[in-house]
Amino acid sequence: MNADALVLFGATGDLARKKLFPALYEMEEAGELEIDVYGVASSKWTQAEFRANAEAAIRERIADVDEVILNRLLDELHLVVGDYRSPDTFIELRNQLKECSLPVIYLAIAPDMFATVTQGLADVGITTNARLVVEKPFGRDYQSAIELDDALKKILPEDQIYRIDHYLGKESVEDLLVFRFANTLFEPVWNRNYIASVQITMSENFGIEGRGKFYDGVGATRDVLQNHLLQVLTMLAMEPPIDLSSKFMQDEKLKVLAAIRDIEPSDVVRGQYVGYLGEEGVAEHSDTETFVAMKLFIDNWRWAEVPFYLRTGKKLAESTLEAVIEFKQPPRLLFSKLGNTKPIPNIVRFRLGADDGVDISLQAKAPGAELITYPVDLTVEFAAALGERKEAYERLLAAALQGDHFRFTRIDSVLQSWQLLDPILKTPTKLLPYFEHSWGPDESLDLVPGGWNVVGKAAGKH
Ligand code: BG6
Repeated sequence: MNADALVLFGATGDLARKKLFPALYEMEEAGELEIDVYGVASSKWTQAEFRANAEAAIRERIADVDEVILNRLLDELHLVVGDYRSPDTFIELRNQLKECSLPVIYLAIAPDMFATVTQGLADVGITTNARLVVEKPFGRDYQSAIELDDALKKILPEDQIYRIDHYLGKESVEDLLVFRFANTLFEPVWNRNYIASVQITMSENFGIEGRGKFYDGVGATRDVLQNHLLQVLTMLAMEPPIDLSSKFMQDEKLKVLAAIRDIEPSDVVRGQYVGYLGEEGVAEHSDTETFVAMKLFIDNWRWAEVPFYLRTGKKLAESTLEAVIEFKQPPRLLFSKLGNTKPIPNIVRFRLGADDGVDISLQAKAPGAELITYPVDLTVEFAAALGERKEAYERLLAAALQGDHFRFTRIDSVLQSWQLLDPILKTPTKLLPYFEHSWGPDESLDLVPGGWNVVGKAAGKH
């Protein structure tokens, strides 16, 4: 059933401005909204200020705004101002929602307020049929995730909870499934017999952008590795689901996470960029990592002994999001003779960020009398081939309105990922400094024997 109202807690905040209002505009344009949106916030804004902020957020991020669509959306926006701890706020929201019986409640607020707000909603009867959307990270370790889940489950069952990981809304990430399971070409070689390693890189060339207070309590492992990077890993490693229902999809993901071997501390590199300690909101001697890299193994039949390298960091040399599958060398290097360099292995590179696409690096004969190989890339730019993709938040909000869990995380997987990371979160490895514009601490380069493979540079390793 489709929802009949959308309620946004934290409606005057950063996420709403950067992601949610532009997404609402896109949904309005696509005819996917058609319901009223109720912002809830503690900032004492007027209706007019709230709408002006939404309008500015949309104009900032969307080119060629259609004024009719914009105004239709702005007319659908309402603001409830109040303290999240006060029953009056929820009574007022209840009054505004009038006859609505199936609201989607989006909590774009500090995670420590999730339980309080959900209880406040329950006290006025809003949660009966509601769908509750919560932002990541869900908890900050295994125990706190269990506690948060218990608090929410006292009020709502699992099928009314939608845990966001916006990477699951990215079309490029979803395309990993299509690439693997809609093509028979790769499936026979998608295993330990042919694949030498998998590298997943999410690097950002910017810092924490004023989010010091939040980020310093979280760090790179909790902020993106526990969720975004492990999601990409499961998409690459999972078995085909029986069908595309949410249940079977989640079952397969859980199996991958459950098969990941305990992480060796020597396979983890934590870094902090020089200058981080001077950022606003960061504790004086903060040990928070702004970079993390690690080697993982999935102990199952398909992947035994294949290293999966993951890394992410702020203030690195480039912003990129990609997964590189490196294949094994042919059993005999026929075209490599004394003096020639070894052929570079075949590589499938999924570019998952802006300008997404896929590059397949093959060996071809170099021109000339000799039989020497040279790497060539088969490249597809998805936007050019298939048209523009939708933004993650638009797809996630639309899915929550329709009640589809496919693009959200299930509690067992979330707990499994915390269980995996708990030991290294509880006993963090040494924090190493790195300079901005670098690829993180040098120790992370040593983690990958042949070097990390970055951004379409099959030959140039970092
Ligand atoms: C967020 C993190 O979840 O993802 C940010 O909190 C990070 O720190 C962001 O910058 C990256 O998202 P994207 O879609 O730009 O890769």
